[in-house]
Amino acid sequence: MAGARPKVEVPILKDLTIDNITENVHRINSQGSDPRMKYILERLVSHMHDFARETRLSTQEWMEGIEFLTAVGKKCTDVRQEFILLSDTLGLSLLVDSIDHPKPPASTEGTVLGPYHTHDAQDIPTGSSISADPDGEPLLCLCTVKSTTGAPIQDVKIDIWETDSKGVYDVQYEHYTGDRPDGRAVIRSDKEGVFWFKAIVPVPYRIPNDGPVGQMLEQLGRHPWRPSHMHFMFEKEGFDHLITALYLRGDPYETSDAVFGVKESLIIDLSTVNAEQAKKYDIKEGSKLLTYDFVLVTDEETKKLRDNEALKAMKALGRDNMTIINGLLVPDVD
Ligand code: BEZ
Ligand code: FE
Repeated sequence: MAGARPKVEVPILKDLTIDNITENVHRINSQGSDPRMKYILERLVSHMHDFARETRLSTQEWMEGIEFLTAVGKKCTDVRQEFILLSDTLGLSLLVDSIDHPKPPASTEGTVLGPYHTHDAQDIPTGSSISADPDGEPLLCLCTVKSTTGAPIQDVKIDIWETDSKGVYDVQYEHYTGDRPDGRAVIRSDKEGVFWFKAIVPVPYRIPNDGPVGQMLEQLGRHPWRPSHMHFMFEKEGFDHLITALYLRGDPYETSDAVFGVKESLIIDLSTVNAEQAKKYDIKEGSKLLTYDFVLVTDEETKKLRDNEALKAMKALGRDNMTIINGLLVPDVD
């Protein structure tokens, strides 16, 4: 309706200063009805304003920040998500995954997904090879997937992906069409929770660094390398979806991963295939061997842990007036 003005129900501060503008923004933003959104915005505005006050941010720096974020947005396409890369390289992706998917002791920790998971991978029978790269160093992978009680989990859908021996994922090749995925596959666990496959020994590679995030890393004196790793994604009804990866100990980038994905429990030592295994798994004796027992957490256990950790974290911050609604933290209304 032309000319109609919204009624302002909250007392607005008029004499805005560096010190009271935050409170003023909070008051205006508090009119919505979604408690989670109001809480998120309240914390975001507080941290942004404190950041500007603490750094005494100049107008020129503020503009450079806007231009940087604009360039990040312009670099995004259907197959390139520069904002997620920015989040990855600033440690935010790993932080959010660790908060949202808490793990009890002795379960398998999660890590960053990265941009190279696809839905092109073919279902292969256990024991097959996921890589056709003749230059890769052969690797036998013998794995199990169990619950936190030690019970094998049958028929888990396990997505696995890795680069070729040049450190390039299949989707990164210009001619890639999706009909011949390589370095990736989907396997299902058997009734003992066992799944095994052949692959190649992972190698280090660079994250996409030809955009604004790459420039940022350069200005910060950071390299764009990820340590050698293989990705795994586990899906099974009733269990928390697990996105993880295994990292090779001793990799030159083990302690300086460009996206902060390495966790101690995910670092592995490769061993070598003995004569008996060579015969059983039809691979050359002396080939590299990866063994790992993955442990999934039920949805119920995860939810309980997530809620408890959230309230504990708030208590540590001196905020006792918080509650959880639908798994999300909000201030108590009364
Ligand atoms: C990856 O491991 O595939 C990856 C993760 C984050 C950013 C880029 C690549
Ligand atoms: Fe990767």
